[in-house]
Amino acid sequence: MSEQIQEIKGWLYEAGEKIKASFREELKVDQKSNRTDLVTNMDRDIQKFLIENIQSTYPKARILAEESGYNTLDTMEGTVFVIDPIDGTLNFVLEKENFCIMLAVYEEGQSKLGFIYNVMQEELYWGGREFGVYCNEKKLTKPENKLLSEGLIGMNAHMYLHNQYEAQKIGEVSMGVRMSGCAGIELIAILKGTRIGYLSNLSPWDYAAGCAMLDAFDFPYSGLTGKPLHFNGREHFVAGTPKMVEEVSKILQFP
Ligand code: IPD
Ligand code: CA
Ligand code: CA
Ligand code: CA
Repeated sequence: MSEQIQEIKGWLYEAGEKIKASFREELKVDQKSNRTDLVTNMDRDIQKFLIENIQSTYPKARILAEESGYNTLDTMEGTVFVIDPIDGTLNFVLEKENFCIMLAVYEEGQSKLGFIYNVMQEELYWGGREFGVYCNEKKLTKPENKLLSEGLIGMNAHMYLHNQYEAQKIGEVSMGVRMSGCAGIELIAILKGTRIGYLSNLSPWDYAAGCAMLDAFDFPYSGLTGKPLHFNGREHFVAGTPKMVEEVSKILQFP
């Protein structure tokens, strides 16, 4: 297994230990754009820890990361590391579980590796088109290509409540709607085959790692007009089994 994979796994395990240790201390929570958009000292510390490791090992790589100073990039040329230091910050603050650390490596705009670490479950999902997808040491088998009507669908709660992009109709065709509040957990569920898809409104650090692993299974993802994801700001998002994404594209009438 490549040295890079071992190295990144090591950073993520260490980051996970820092998060667990932080439960013994008081968390510092700040609001960003509104009362439900939070950032904590741990989001900032984990991002800083990962960026320091990346910069000392890969000084030429570009970095795209959620928290301050790193959240835009002019180009995906060269090697790009995409980081979400804590995905599901609200869950982290209120539940102390159901959050992940996410990291992806892209080369010349193509996915190479994705890592989603569910810290409290101690499950590290990782992989890419050259490697397949693993949960810790166990290789996952490619999920069945199920129809929308044959499985559970993950959704962004705001989209479902406000019925954006026919979210309620899509939910009704499925066997049931689930909302975890954590993009990483939703994307893992598609990789495991426990959900047939995910509809959301995401930033690049929310989808980069999951999409790198979906590429290993040739499972599709795109914006909700059918255009490829642009890695430049927030956009509506669908991913899932090929059959599910095709059905969603028909409902939304995109090519
Ligand atoms: C958020 C979560 C949430 C999704 C939001 C994301 P954050 O990430 O993944 O499930 O609905 O769009 O921004 O801010 O907790 O890293
Ligand atoms: Ca956030
Ligand atoms: Ca996120
Ligand atoms: Ca985050």
